[in-house]
Amino acid sequence: MLRMCNSLLFAVLLATPMAAQSLDSLLARMTLEEKLGQLNLLSANGRASPQQIQLVRDGKLGGLFNVIGAENTTPVQRVAVTESRLKIPLLFGLDVIHGYRAIFPIPLGEASSFDPDAAEATARAAGQEAAAFGINWTYAPMVDIARDPRWGRIAEGSGEDPYLGSLMAAARVRGFQQNIFATAKHFAGYGASEAGREYAETEISERTMRELYLPPFKAAVDAGVASLMSAFNDISGVPASGNAWLTDTVLRREWGFSGFVVSDWTSVQELVNHGIAGSQAEAGRRALTAGVDMDMQSSIYVDSLAALVRSNRIPMAVVDSAVMRILRAKQRLGLFRDPYRARAAPANAELRAIARRVGAESIVLLKNEPVGRGAACCAPTLPLSKSGAVAVIGPLADNKEEPLGPWHTQGRAEDVVSVLQGIKAKVTAGTQVLYAQGAAIEDTSTAGFAAAVAAAKQAKVAVLVLGERGDMSGEAASRSSLGLPGVQEQLLEAVVATGTPVVLVLMNGRPLILEWASDHVPAIVETWFLGVEAGNATADVLFGDLNPSGRLPITFPRVLGQVPIYYNRRNTGRPADVNNKYSSKYIDVPVTPRYPFGFGLSYTTFGYGNLKLSSARARVSDTVTATVTVTNTGSREGTEVVQLYVRDMVASVSRPLRELKAFRRVTLKPGESRAIDLPIAVKDLWFIGLDRKPVVEPGTFRVYVGPSSAEGQEATFECIP
Ligand code: NOJ
Repeated sequence: MLRMCNSLLFAVLLATPMAAQSLDSLLARMTLEEKLGQLNLLSANGRASPQQIQLVRDGKLGGLFNVIGAENTTPVQRVAVTESRLKIPLLFGLDVIHGYRAIFPIPLGEASSFDPDAAEATARAAGQEAAAFGINWTYAPMVDIARDPRWGRIAEGSGEDPYLGSLMAAARVRGFQQNIFATAKHFAGYGASEAGREYAETEISERTMRELYLPPFKAAVDAGVASLMSAFNDISGVPASGNAWLTDTVLRREWGFSGFVVSDWTSVQELVNHGIAGSQAEAGRRALTAGVDMDMQSSIYVDSLAALVRSNRIPMAVVDSAVMRILRAKQRLGLFRDPYRARAAPANAELRAIARRVGAESIVLLKNEPVGRGAACCAPTLPLSKSGAVAVIGPLADNKEEPLGPWHTQGRAEDVVSVLQGIKAKVTAGTQVLYAQGAAIEDTSTAGFAAAVAAAKQAKVAVLVLGERGDMSGEAASRSSLGLPGVQEQLLEAVVATGTPVVLVLMNGRPLILEWASDHVPAIVETWFLGVEAGNATADVLFGDLNPSGRLPITFPRVLGQVPIYYNRRNTGRPADVNNKYSSKYIDVPVTPRYPFGFGLSYTTFGYGNLKLSSARARVSDTVTATVTVTNTGSREGTEVVQLYVRDMVASVSRPLRELKAFRRVTLKPGESRAIDLPIAVKDLWFIGLDRKPVVEPGTFRVYVGPSSAEGQEATFECIP
């Protein structure tokens, strides 16, 4: 109840009108150095250093990040509010990306749930736990749309789709901001890094920027996000951390964003490397005048900009606006009234329950075929029986570090339930669970294979837990190959060769290339990195206590050469045609993905029928509702993610073959049928027209409703003027 009160109280504080008057008078009392100090943000190393504490005392720091624990934030805050001249409290930031200490699924995994409520729940819980440890500001959610699985940061976002990405962005902002401030990052286009290479340049047209990369940021802004972080990358030559079109024209003027923009780590200073500034001071001038209010880690604003302001090369009004945005944020957060924000930590059991529930929801069943001949031939491999001997094999099977994934801040391996532990806890007493590591994640040796093969031979089923290390995705973790690292695929082949049915459980932060496994392994389960409850959530699904309902938020290619591959592409003038050499395809691999966006199986099956639209003609202001009958045609209760895609058939600009515009999670009992309504607001079918303005053009729209981006029933309606 106390926790609930805190959350509600915070929501009320967020809504409290600003005492503009008092902030104005505070600004009027500030020296130029104190103003620039408010725009300065530095990282601590667990604790503030004596030099940083002196900066606080001198009014030369607006916030600190990476100060861990209230026992470390509180004394520094005390210096700020009792010893500095103007007593302005500090922001305390941290990368609370998917949990503080109780680690939840990585965001890409969580996006597989197609459940924004789940994302809101984990963000709320993470924010609540972080707040109890002195944090008042997180650098999340990461809302970058990404189409290139080589890019390690794909793990931190919601995948390739702007509609799903927008719902997840808004949900996470709402969740975090019940307790702490959120930051939508990285503004913008970072996910388009060329060749999937971290920190690389991007080439993005204004149309693609507005249609694909910006919508999740807009959704975060509309959800009330307190701050945005400017990205490292350039966009067609203009770095995002010195890009007035992004941070001023679009963000502030078009969207009316009233929060503040923080740079990424030294991204202000990096304007020199980008070659758009010849000196640190010029880099600072470029960033600040473009609308980047707070300088993370470069110390350029505080150290180098005063002279430029005094010589009128930077108008004082620009500094004042930036300072006011920071002060208003501090006021909105309630820091002037309650600088220490002492908060109770949420109960661990509650956090773990959320982690287990959302973890299981994030699992995607990629393949589930029968093994064996004769009578056994028709039973799919999964779910497993709780009483047959099971071999648990692989470098990630008994691993408690990697399920934490990238960016796990205070997460600890000791808190993690490994898959082996989860399976042991699930099987009936007396059931044999044989374990063999087989190989380490990046091993080049096959020495451990013999023990793994021996274990598999003694068991009724072998569960192989393979994949990546947690730090092979996240920041600075681009990969040039997307296969299973080391000798893991050979290990898989060796175990499959025993003839024992194999279940491949994957842990990874990006789509992997799974050709051999997809062709030879009967069951494949994508678990991403699920956090502290990884083993229990995985066992819940493997043994059928929960029926998997996750769907891919990102396309899985067949081979690396297909990258970038994504579902919402345009048609080209020569659509792929196997009978036409001169069509858009490859000569050595199908043009289709291995697993398409939106794909995921269940232990039951679903049928779709009777798609109807509420009207055949609609105006831009109308809503057309698609109704489809979904039937659970299998023998278990299950949850289907009913997906609706739209194609604008003829427009002044070539439009994607499909775009996700609605979805619903629907739970049905065996044999149960339900009519599912999916409304489409016609105004949401906009695109950027020839005049670079959003437009919905009259004409035919084709609607697809089905279980993934590659299937579905079809219907059409006309948009009329
Ligand atoms: C750099 C990363 O790009 C960003 O996402 C993160 O929030 C900052 N470092 C702070 O740790």
